Amino acid sequence: MKMKKYFIYLMMAFAAVTANACGNDDPAQEQPGTEQPEDNGTSDVPSGNSNILVAYFSATGNTQTVAQHIADLLRADIFRIEAADEYNTSPDPYADSERIQDEAYNNLRPDVKTLPEEEDIAAYDTIFVGSPIWWHQPAMVVCTFLEHYDLSGKVIIPFFTYGATTYLNEAMQRIYASTPESIHIPETLPEDIDPDNIQEPQNDDDGINMPGRSESSVENWLREIGIIK
Ligand SMILES: Cc1cc2nc3c(=O)[nH]c(=O)nc-3n(C[C@H](O)[C@H](O)[C@H](O)COP(=O)(O)O)c2cc1C
Repeated sequence: MKMKKYFIYLMMAFAAVTANACGNDDPAQEQPGTEQPEDNGTSDVPSGNSNILVAYFSATGNTQTVAQHIADLLRADIFRIEAADEYNTSPDPYADSERIQDEAYNNLRPDVKTLPEEEDIAAYDTIFVGSPIWWHQPAMVVCTFLEHYDLSGKVIIPFFTYGATTYLNEAMQRIYASTPESIHIPETLPEDIDPDNIQEPQNDDDGINMPGRSESSVENWLREIGIIK
């Protein structure tokens, strides 16, 4: 792991961040990566050695890549959220598309395979929460995870990987709704959309900025949102 000196401004990081472009968003036309997340031990119960946790779900490896960069750059703990009823995404990432759409459109809460102890999660001040956008929402198992804990007063920083940014605001709003007592980065989201209308594009991602998959892009993003200097 690289040893870099960062200044962490978690409680000062509420400045608006730069806007994102919008785009086409038909899941059937998107090309998710086919890479499978490695079982590299990131499902283990967090160690509690850091006050920052990166908790993420990833089916085909993209979100895991970003999560690992964040954890490496911040020397944070990392936890991979897995569904109790595993998704079938290999070799065809869309093999479980119908189930995934049902969970998203009906705001369901699939069970999490392993939930860390509440006291382990309580030890973190800041939790990065990563997910692919799946049918215009986070992987809903991420919401199950978040709603299991008392995250009041903690800083929650969502990050997504996706094919298009069309429903980024809606996906962010779902995470914010699952963590109503938390502090969020960005602090607020564009409010001129109906967050429950997740089937028609509303295209308002102003101020929502996401990392790319390279380490340098993740580092830039951490800088843009005020986590590192
Ligand atoms: C079933 C399914 C639904 C998807 N729905 C969306 C979507 O609504 N919007 C979007 O931008 N990308 C969508 N994608 C693309 C994924 O968000 C993208 O490939 C993501 O990087 C996958 O992350 P992962 O590799 O960590 O699983 C979808 C992919 C799949 C397999």
